[in-house]
Amino acid sequence: MTTSTLRSSNYTALQPLADTEFNFFRQWLFQNSGITLNDSKKSLVSGRLSKRIAKLGLGSFSAYLKIIRSGDKEEAQVLLNILTTNETYFFREHKHFEFMQSVILPDLKQAGKVSVWSAAASTGEEAYTVALIMADAFGLHGPWSVTGTDINTEVLSIGQRAIYPIEASVKIPESYRKKYCLKGKGKDQGLFRICGELRKQVNFTQHNLMQPYAGTERFNLVFLRNVLIYFDLEEKKEILRHVMNSMTPGGWLLVGHSESITGYSERIKQYQPGCYRLIS
Ligand SMILES: C[S@@+](CC[C@H](N)C(=O)[O-])C[C@H]1O[C@@H](n2cnc3c(N)ncnc32)[C@H](O)[C@@H]1O
Repeated sequence: MTTSTLRSSNYTALQPLADTEFNFFRQWLFQNSGITLNDSKKSLVSGRLSKRIAKLGLGSFSAYLKIIRSGDKEEAQVLLNILTTNETYFFREHKHFEFMQSVILPDLKQAGKVSVWSAAASTGEEAYTVALIMADAFGLHGPWSVTGTDINTEVLSIGQRAIYPIEASVKIPESYRKKYCLKGKGKDQGLFRICGELRKQVNFTQHNLMQPYAGTERFNLVFLRNVLIYFDLEEKKEILRHVMNSMTPGGWLLVGHSESITGYSERIKQYQPGCYRLIS
């Protein structure tokens, strides 16, 4: 960028994020989501906040901090959206889905209705991966549902739309793709959408894992994957308590391959690494 384009785009270099400001934002995030950010996350926070500050036309981190401190609810949600990390993809950690097909679903066959919870759903790929498998196992209009929840409202709206770049579909086995995915044409070239009938079985709603689940539904199977890594031990245990209270007795709970909750509660028993059952 030349000096003249810098001037014409009204670009103002920000003073670096001060430690006191970083501490404010990480305490705020902890209070509002339970997430712990260690010192190494300062440049990540600084980068993400800088973009928002530029968009708002503000000149400093402290000006943005004042807006958050003033209690602006809309901006608080934007800040939560900015500070959460949402990486996900279809059939992520595919061994879980093989296990779901070979062990969990046969076990749940007698359950009547099967309710599945994608408890940190991000943009919805995990919830739809589950839905593809459920549709094949129990029928597209069978007695099952998937609930996707997240604290981040922006990712939830992507999940609700269910439109993804075509490259994301390579992770989906071809047989599912043919049956349940619609390729975009014309202006939607390069995109695909999960078909309407499958979308009807999947609901997205905002939920903070640090709080008890507000719905009355009890889940037979919960995916709590790649989210506990953002929390310290006490918060992990609190999240687990709330999740267990929303499960059916004998229900299944899956965590990410790099996460373990063994020993966190006497109410769960490890079935195999990453896979637990509620025993009481
Ligand atoms: C890395 S993604 C994991 C997505 C998916 N479960 C997977 O394994 O691919 C983590 C998600 O957890 C969400 N999250 C973080 N803290 C949360 C909280 N307190 N309550 C609910 N969701 C939270 C983030 O917004 C993010 O979308």
